[in-house]
Amino acid sequence: MGLSKMEFSSIKESMKKGKGKVAVRGWVYRERGSNKLKFIVLRDSSEIIQCVIEKSKVGEKMFKTADAVQIETSMEIFGQIKKDERAPTGYEISVDSFKVIGESDTFPISKDQSREFLDDHRHLWLRSRKMTAMMKIRSTVFGAIDEYFKGEEFYEYHSPTLQAVQCEGGSTLFDVDYYKQKGVFLAQTWQLYAEPAIFALEKIYTIAPSFRAEKSKTSRHLSEYWHAEMEVAWASFDDIIQYGEDLLKFIIKKVLAERKEELKILGRDPKELEPTVKKKFPRMTYTDSLKLLDKKFGMKIKWGKDLRTIEEDRLSELYDTPIIVTHYPKEVKAFYMKEDPKDKKVVYGVDFIAPEGYGEIIGGSERESDIKEIMKRLKDMGEKPSEYEFYLDTRRYGSIPHGGFGLGIERVISWICKLDNIKDAIPFPRTMTRWTP
Ligand code: 4AD
Ligand code: MG
Repeated sequence: MGLSKMEFSSIKESMKKGKGKVAVRGWVYRERGSNKLKFIVLRDSSEIIQCVIEKSKVGEKMFKTADAVQIETSMEIFGQIKKDERAPTGYEISVDSFKVIGESDTFPISKDQSREFLDDHRHLWLRSRKMTAMMKIRSTVFGAIDEYFKGEEFYEYHSPTLQAVQCEGGSTLFDVDYYKQKGVFLAQTWQLYAEPAIFALEKIYTIAPSFRAEKSKTSRHLSEYWHAEMEVAWASFDDIIQYGEDLLKFIIKKVLAERKEELKILGRDPKELEPTVKKKFPRMTYTDSLKLLDKKFGMKIKWGKDLRTIEEDRLSELYDTPIIVTHYPKEVKAFYMKEDPKDKKVVYGVDFIAPEGYGEIIGGSERESDIKEIMKRLKDMGEKPSEYEFYLDTRRYGSIPHGGFGLGIERVISWICKLDNIKDAIPFPRTMTRWTP
């Protein structure tokens, strides 16, 4: 063809150019044709575009090779681009010449496939417009989290994935066969290994996978999910909550600035996300949330019971931004949360509940500073405080007020992208019933 690789441009850039000669490459998204004319919709990572191959223009010999073109054939196309209202994305390339790079077997994914079938073919389903749009938004969300924390002068810090103590309850631990030893688990959270580090770095964050052996099948639980966590020295409970609200606003702002097209492909009207950027999030205590549930929905929940999915969903119907719920009963929250000195039945724990029934997106707290209280609560859970000595040392050598939170990145992506199932917020989901491909 005589054209060097450098001369290719993305489909999106070519459309921006709008007229004249272009060279694009990608995969066949759709194709149809007659013995004189062939329409190929080509896709690359940036866009899709209709390309028209005319026998009279490319000649008999080249037109014949177009017969081999099937869905997902990879090819290079050289031609003239122009505006065309009838074309799927408003532009069309009139093909001068083309080259098949990789032929494709009959692509197994066609219309109306079941969830199970698409999950089995996940490696191919990634190429779909919806998954591509989700993955771009995902990339923006990860970038935004980094940018936010770096902007607030946090250090990036890394905790071990192989850990020897639980933090978020023993029932969701994944056991590891560690050189035939027992008592080693995949991380549920970085927290117990983050708290020791704030004595050196003060403000830290991470983005890392967390693992939870969730035994129930729901549309919001993964066995492996990406967790953005932060921990801050000298921080009050209010400081932690403020960071959570600011981070969510930052993420949504970034997605709205960069990914409006992708949101639309996924059926999410960007306007629906705007209140999160513009409005202050409502805050209420757990106790007030029970009163609200009773008043608005006649739901009578016994004080001391954790909020379930159904209650969180009802609360989320009342607002168009995330909701901040604080001061949960001690019994339903983790051992490390600080007891409220004014009301010892509750702790300085916070959950952020997403709009539209997407559930808890952030969980955090100010940390308990009283070492005796921590040891007591560990014992109450059936844990041996002696195994937590490394953690307890954080309260022995210059203890300080501090706290942090964890944000479930796929939960946030599910909400942003308006997904039916959290499985579609990650390329290769892992759940109790799905670990392949
Ligand atoms: O509320 P969690 O369990 O809190 C912690 O792990 C704390 N140690 C975090 C911290 O303070 N550093 O989990 C935090 C968040 C939840 O709010 C939820 O968004 C998400 O992690 N999450 C899950 N996301 C997907 N699948 C699961 N199975 C999840 N479990 C929790
Ligand atoms: Mg939680």
